[in-house]
Amino acid sequence: MNKIENANKYIEENKSKAKSKPLYHFTPPIGWMNDPNGFSYYNGEYHLFYQYGPYGLFWDNIHWGHAVSDDLVNWKHRPVVMAPDIISDISGCFSGSAIEKDGKLYLMYTGHIDPNLGFDIVHKEIVQQQCLATYHIDGTVEKYENNPVIAQRELPAGYEIRDFRDPKVYKKGELYYCVLAGRNENSRGSILLYSSSDLVEWEFVADIYRRPVNDNTLFECPDLFEIDGKDVLIFSIMPCSPEYSEDVKQQVEYVIGSMNYKSNVFEEESRGIIDYGSNYYAPQTTQNKDGSQVIIGWVSDWSKINKEFVEEYGYNGIMTLPRRLGIDSGRLIQTPTADITKYEFERKVVKDFELMGELLLGGNPLNLHLHVEVDKLDSVFTIDLMKNEAKGFSFTFDPDLNFIKLFSSYKVAVDKSVVCELGGSVEIDVYVDNHCVELYVNGFAFTFLCYDFDKGHETSIHTQQKQLIKCLKHTEIAGVKIE
Ligand code: FRU
Repeated sequence: MNKIENANKYIEENKSKAKSKPLYHFTPPIGWMNDPNGFSYYNGEYHLFYQYGPYGLFWDNIHWGHAVSDDLVNWKHRPVVMAPDIISDISGCFSGSAIEKDGKLYLMYTGHIDPNLGFDIVHKEIVQQQCLATYHIDGTVEKYENNPVIAQRELPAGYEIRDFRDPKVYKKGELYYCVLAGRNENSRGSILLYSSSDLVEWEFVADIYRRPVNDNTLFECPDLFEIDGKDVLIFSIMPCSPEYSEDVKQQVEYVIGSMNYKSNVFEEESRGIIDYGSNYYAPQTTQNKDGSQVIIGWVSDWSKINKEFVEEYGYNGIMTLPRRLGIDSGRLIQTPTADITKYEFERKVVKDFELMGELLLGGNPLNLHLHVEVDKLDSVFTIDLMKNEAKGFSFTFDPDLNFIKLFSSYKVAVDKSVVCELGGSVEIDVYVDNHCVELYVNGFAFTFLCYDFDKGHETSIHTQQKQLIKCLKHTEIAGVKIE
């Protein structure tokens, strides 16, 4: 039996052991999942591939998992499509993307070779090169026979092959382009641009983006796309070496501006953070069937902090809701894709009312959506979730200080404040699912994991002074199928 058959057999035989899954967030059948890959709309379906270690609960032995969807809400698991089984990807089929060409879907990904079979042991010996594969309608994938297609020979002098990964391919005019994360001559991150006319022969174009050396950052999973005539570059950030792990936070950032294909420089106009929560990394975008740009991210957890839970539940990895992207006054804004509303059942909807003190919204911590709209926040306003005598998760909005305080006394505590313009009208959406919470405030997004065996059930909102509320909607999300 080959490695793919082996993985698929293992999944079939063991998937019934996975339990306590979120009800409307994507998870793998069993085992470990990290980055979304090859996110695309092809042949009438959305495809989501992902970094997948089926046999264990922590990052190891990375294959590509696969699922399909008609609406970005319901997902059907499909067999694993790639396993690390050729010389160029023998230590892992790392992240990559998908693109349609002549009616076929091509996958481009990083083949990871680690002679020491570990992430960091002798880092200098690691080789990362870009490989090509074709997806067939029957759900199988065929790797190109002459992989890799971008290797050491296409990497300019000074850049290191040990950190050269995560190709995101797109088409502009007659040419295919791909952005890649690289490690430059200062041993810091750069975003590299390559071009090709056929996806096989690739040529280095330029190093289009880097941060000052003393930022001490390395990039992963770049993505470059257009919204409303602007170019948007996104990338995940990690420390360039472990000695900076205290100073450099893992997070995902964006830069809006224009990609100048003459000077080959990304001209920056504005920038920001994609998600302010504690658990968000390595997102990828695609164009949805109505033409808008949609992003899906990994509800990330590299640590083993939730070990006791994932061991009990048999899987480790959740994706965010797919979110529609927009640009508003130089800021990238996000809202969950509209189709989720079809699965929302109203528990309470109240419009134009005055609230003073606390409003209890009742139980069911697992699968709710709370929407609050105000024209102006008059004083401190709080949303309490999953509350019992001992624990809770809360979001406090302070209009005077213009910040949102995020607090959780659950297993992995959260206690931080994020500056956010709360002066004008405020629109809040909170999505609570089993083990994860997403908050959206005026297009800003916050993602959190929330594991605990003993969660509270109370949901409430409260104010310190009289507050006019334009709309309060409390719905239960039910009937989504991820199977
Ligand atoms: C980001 C990442 C990618 C890499 C993959 C390996 O989470 O480190 O850069 O391709 O995960 O699984």
